[in-house]
Amino acid sequence: MTGIFGNSSKSASISGNSPFKEAVGIDDLAVYIPQLYLPLEGEFSRRREIDPGKLTRGIGIERMAIPDAHEDAATMAAMSLLELMRRCDLLPEDIGKIHIGTESAVDEAKAIGTYVIGMLEKVYGPGSFQHCSTVEFKSACIGTTLALESISYWVAADEGERVGVVIASDVAKYPLGSSGEYTQGAGSVSLLVKKNPRIAALEQIYGCFTRDENDFFRPTGCTMATVNGKHSNQCYLDAMQGAFASFAAKAARKGIISPKNGECTTDWIDHLLFHIPYPRMIEYASAAIFRQDWKNSSRWSDVEAEIGPEPEAGNYDDLERYRLDLARYARSFARSRQFLEAYNARVIDSAALSRSIGNIYTGSIYLGLASLLELQKLRAHERLCFGAYGSGCSALVFSARVSSEFSSVPSRDLFERLEKRREISLEEYELLHEGVRKESLIQPSGEFALAQIDHQGYRHYEYMS
Ligand code: COA
Repeated sequence: MTGIFGNSSKSASISGNSPFKEAVGIDDLAVYIPQLYLPLEGEFSRRREIDPGKLTRGIGIERMAIPDAHEDAATMAAMSLLELMRRCDLLPEDIGKIHIGTESAVDEAKAIGTYVIGMLEKVYGPGSFQHCSTVEFKSACIGTTLALESISYWVAADEGERVGVVIASDVAKYPLGSSGEYTQGAGSVSLLVKKNPRIAALEQIYGCFTRDENDFFRPTGCTMATVNGKHSNQCYLDAMQGAFASFAAKAARKGIISPKNGECTTDWIDHLLFHIPYPRMIEYASAAIFRQDWKNSSRWSDVEAEIGPEPEAGNYDDLERYRLDLARYARSFARSRQFLEAYNARVIDSAALSRSIGNIYTGSIYLGLASLLELQKLRAHERLCFGAYGSGCSALVFSARVSSEFSSVPSRDLFERLEKRREISLEEYELLHEGVRKESLIQPSGEFALAQIDHQGYRHYEYMS
C-alpha cells in the first residue's frame, strides 16, 4: 500500500524492533462461522419496525450469524482449531499452550479449553493433547488480545519448537427486541502464534487503559448480558483514546515510532484494526483516534480550514453546552475530507466480514485481520495497529509488522463460504435464541456437536462424521 501519507516507506525502514531474539507473532489464522444467518433487511426490520437503512448503514450489519442448536462457544472453538491444525499440518504434540478468550463461558469453573481438547482428541486420539496446557481468559471482548500478549512471551521464552494457539470464541447475544439485538453474531477465530511468523510479527509495545465501568456485564448465572449501549460506546472511545496515547508514548520512547517535522503517530501506521461490535463503531473509534493524534501535527490546520477550530473548555461557563458543541464538532470531523480519506484507506476494509457475520465479541478484531487478508489488502512490512476493547472496561493498543512471506499463506475463501450459509426465518431465529428449539436446523456433519448436558451439568460433545 502506498498510503495517502506514504506510510509504507516509513515503516519499511524500521527493523529489529522486537525485544525477542526471534520475531514472534501470528503465523496463520482459521475462522469458524455457523452455517445459519438471519438477514436484517426484510422480515426482521419490518417486524421490529426499524428502518433497514439504520441497520445496514447506521449500524453496518447486513446478516447475523446464528448458532444452530448443537453449537456453543466450545464447539465453535474446536472447529476453528481443527481447521487451523489441518491448514498448518499441526499435530497435537506441536502445541504447547491453548489460551482461549471467551465471554460465553459454558462452565463457571472448568476451562472451556478442556472441553475443546476433549473434542479434538476424538479426531486425534485419546490423550493426544495431555502435554498441552489450557486456560480461559475472561475480560469481555479484550480477552483474546490479553491471551495473545501473554502467549507471545511464552513462545519467545520456550526453548523447544512448540507453538501456542490463541482461540477466540463467542456467541454475542442480547434480548429479543432490545437495541443490542441487531448487533448479535457468533463465531470463532484461532490464531497460530509462533517464532518467525508468516503473517505478522508483534512489536511488543502495548498501550493499556483500564477503568471500572458498568457499560456491559453479565452477573453470574445470567445467560444474557446487561448492556448500557450508548454508555458502552463512550467507554469504548475513552478507553481507546487512553490506550492509544499510552501506546504512542511507549513507541516513541522505544524509538519505534518517532514522529518529527509535523508528523504524528498514525502517519507511521498503515492499517488500524479495532474491536468491531458493529462496523459503524470503527468509524467512531478511528475518528476519535485520528482527531486526538492529528491535533499535534501540521495536518490540523487543514482540518481547521475545513471544519473550524475545536471548542475549548476554557471558553464555556456551561459544561453541558461545551459537551454538546464538542459532540457536534466530533460529527463534523467524522465527515471531513481529511478523515474520510484516512478512514477509507486505512480502516474501513477490516469490517468487511463483520458486515455479514455481526459481532463475535472477543474475536471480532481478528476477524478484521482476516478481512484484510482475504481482501488482499496487506503488503509486506506494513505496520498494523490493533485497538482491542473489552467492556468493564479496558483497551489495549499494540502493533505488528506484516511479514515478507505473508502472501504464501493460503486464502481461507471466507467470503465464498459465507455465501453458502442457510438463511433462516425470524421464527426459526427466535426459537433458537430462546432455547425452545432443541433439534438442529442443519444436521451436523463433519463437525463437533453438543450431544447432551447430563444431570450433573457436564457437557458431552461428539464429532459427527
Ligand atoms: N439510515 C441511516 N442511518 C440511520 C438511520 C437510517 N434510517 N436511522 C438511524 N441511523 C443512524 C443514527 O443516526 C446513528 O448514527 P450516528 O451516530 O452517526 O448519528 C446510528 O444509526 C445508530 O443509531 P442509534 O439510534 O444511535 O443507535 P441505537 O439506539 O440503535 O443503539 C447501540 C446502538 C450500539 C448502542 C446498540 O445497538 C447496543 O446497545 N449494542 C450493544 C452494545 C455495543 O455493541 N456497544 C458498543 C461498544 S462495545
